[in-house]
Amino acid sequence: MVKKRPRRGTTRVPQKLKVKIGKLELENPVILASGTAGFGREIREFLDIERLGAIVTKTITLHKKEGNPPPRVVEAPWGLLNSIGLANGGIKDFMFEQVPFLESLRIPVIASISGDILDEFIKLAEEVSRVGCVRAIEVNLSCPNVIHKGTRLPLLAQDRTAVEKIVSTLRKTTEKTLIPKLSPNVTDIKEIAKAAEGAGCDAVSLVNTYPAMLVDIHTMRPRLGNVCGGLSGPCIKPLALKCVWDVHSAIDVPVIGMGGIMDADDAIEFILCGSSAVQVGTANFVNPSASLGILEGIEQYMAKKGIADIMDLVGAAKA
Ligand SMILES: Cc1cc2nc3c(=O)[nH]c(=O)nc-3n(C[C@H](O)[C@H](O)[C@H](O)COP(=O)(O)O)c2cc1C
Repeated sequence: MVKKRPRRGTTRVPQKLKVKIGKLELENPVILASGTAGFGREIREFLDIERLGAIVTKTITLHKKEGNPPPRVVEAPWGLLNSIGLANGGIKDFMFEQVPFLESLRIPVIASISGDILDEFIKLAEEVSRVGCVRAIEVNLSCPNVIHKGTRLPLLAQDRTAVEKIVSTLRKTTEKTLIPKLSPNVTDIKEIAKAAEGAGCDAVSLVNTYPAMLVDIHTMRPRLGNVCGGLSGPCIKPLALKCVWDVHSAIDVPVIGMGGIMDADDAIEFILCGSSAVQVGTANFVNPSASLGILEGIEQYMAKKGIADIMDLVGAAKA
């Protein structure tokens, strides 16, 4: 029997989409970003969540948080402005209400945690480390919508010493993959990433939202109840990409990139700039199944380019 040669440009290359981040093994690099898919329950109605690489939970705090006054989300030009203020049910709610559902998922869960003081981070890391499906901890050091007690600067991720202290302490607290989430709102994000790496993290994720505001000219009042909030979506993509590019060249641990990823092309740009995995945030509000489209688009791109292993794309963009 004569074997049919595949037509030019249509060759199927067996693809390796698996990525490893610390001890965390992902079937593919597409992850749902914190705060944009809750704890996975609702978004599951719209997509087969188990085809994704992982889900990051809404940030969990020690105690229940009501969040900031409304309005908390407004549309911005090419983006979204939010000041949710880490509204969540606290660690008890997570353990009793969310974990049973998360345990039923066949993908890794990355628990996002945040505290006001070091002791809260330790307690949260201890608690979530007990949960089997939690394979990694994303340490939210970069929420622009809360005030942390006892730090010199408004964001923990702006304070190099605080980042070192929190990461090195959590390194001793948990064996789970540890991923501090950094803020773009710093003078030099490379320095903060290096501090986190030096303190023992397994990867860094970036970026969180950019501090921003909008004003309603009719009422002459800020559009958010909290006055200022965090900007996300396509308008921040070029800014976020630069952060990933800079950090990728400065540290050896993997970078998980995000910021305005709406489609596969955006995700590929982040991967080429050095993201080992990508998180999808605002896009989930526009199209709850966007992340699956992004995954499929990455696969198609790899097939078209004849790339067998996603790792060959990570950081492949050259100056
Ligand atoms: C409504 C909303 C809520 C968010 N809540 C959290 C949160 O709880 N914890 C966190 O680390 N990031 C949170 N983020 C930030 C996202 O995870 C992500 O870092 C940011 O939005 C940039 O990605 P994007 O442009 O794809 O949305 C939130 C973003 C939005 C839009």
